[in-house]
Amino acid sequence: MDIFEKIKKNRGPLGQYAASAEGYYIFPKLGGELSNRMTFRGKEVICWSVNNYLGLGNHPEVRKIDGESAARWGLAYPMGSRMMSGDTDMHAQLEKELAAFVQKESAVLVNFGYQGIMSAIDAVLGRRDVVVYDSESHACIVDGVRMHLGKRFAFDHNDIESLEKNLKRATKIVEETGGGILVISEGVFGMRGDQGKLREIVALKEKYSFRLMVDDAHGFGVLGKTGAGAGEEQNVQDEIDIYFATFAKSMASTGAFLAGDQQMTEFLKYNMRSQVFAKSMMMPLVEGALKRLEMIRTMPELRENLWKVVNALQSGLKEKGFNIGDTNSCVTPVYLQGTPEEATGLVYDLREHHSLFCSIVVYPVIPKGMILLRLIPTAVHTLKDVEETINAFAAVSTKLKEGGYKDSVVKR
Ligand SMILES: Cc1ncc(COP(=O)(O)O)c(C=O)c1O
Repeated sequence: MDIFEKIKKNRGPLGQYAASAEGYYIFPKLGGELSNRMTFRGKEVICWSVNNYLGLGNHPEVRKIDGESAARWGLAYPMGSRMMSGDTDMHAQLEKELAAFVQKESAVLVNFGYQGIMSAIDAVLGRRDVVVYDSESHACIVDGVRMHLGKRFAFDHNDIESLEKNLKRATKIVEETGGGILVISEGVFGMRGDQGKLREIVALKEKYSFRLMVDDAHGFGVLGKTGAGAGEEQNVQDEIDIYFATFAKSMASTGAFLAGDQQMTEFLKYNMRSQVFAKSMMMPLVEGALKRLEMIRTMPELRENLWKVVNALQSGLKEKGFNIGDTNSCVTPVYLQGTPEEATGLVYDLREHHSLFCSIVVYPVIPKGMILLRLIPTAVHTLKDVEETINAFAAVSTKLKEGGYKDSVVKR
């Protein structure tokens, strides 16, 4: 079959809705400043969809350094991959400071989290090794695992019994192949907001021989006493062998890094194909990340404000009887019962009549019959935002239960 004919017939799981939903439910365009209130289709909305946890995205000091740095360096320098011609002292300085912040010996920058962690998984695993990963891992982990030529086992999400069963299988295999085992989990799972059970996973190191990689995209900067993430929060930071975080969330930027011992990060630096064969991170991103990290280190009030909002939102929702699942992070899911059609009607109502913008997740990402509305609180939200949001949720969930969104069609 001709490939162009094929993609006309099958546009993919989301692409099939492009004609009816693009611009509203999919690829919506949020305008205005990155803040608690943004604009959607010309109207102000309370925005709960942006992972700007610490509110740095639009902080005046951040905006200043980003602008000055772009003026100083432009967007080109340095040119080439770091290995060939694109390395600078400032890249190395950022790596040093990131490593210290997450309490690791050493760190290595990557241009984007997605390619970075994919490449790291690809680099460390050989044909004889076995990878054991959480079944609800982020797409970038799944893609990294897909590149692995040896055995791979997914364990049931955050289920330690299932992990142990798979570790037993993996151990048998590596005894024959002479390879090693890599376990991959996340600091915080971005949809449900539950932390990976890192303490329990680490405890299994007493019985099984494996190394642990953790994607802490949603934990870095917001969890733990100093913001070092889910490992610090659970007191097992030392036991994370390969730590990963992106700048796309609490750092409100672009780029990412991996951290661990010196030998491992040096290996990654020389062997992650997506970095060795790609242009180096541009200077304004590096300088901007140094500034953001300094702010995270020295301004605990950013985290305090965030958690004030998180606690008010989560306890307020629970008091009103909402099911927010088993989140123990900032990510706040609200689970409702309904069809995808009802979900679209409800979200339309929230956006158009309650001036509230949040993300919506339906089957097949979550079980049939469920609607997940996902709220990301930030340090720049207010208690008034929280109150208005809870009231809006109470109104739409009552309407949903009364069948008010039956026969909803996607409108835009
Ligand atoms: C859990 C997780 N890992 C990795 C990534 C990818 O990071 P990046 O946006 O830097 O490519 C994301 C999304 O940003 C994420 O949510």
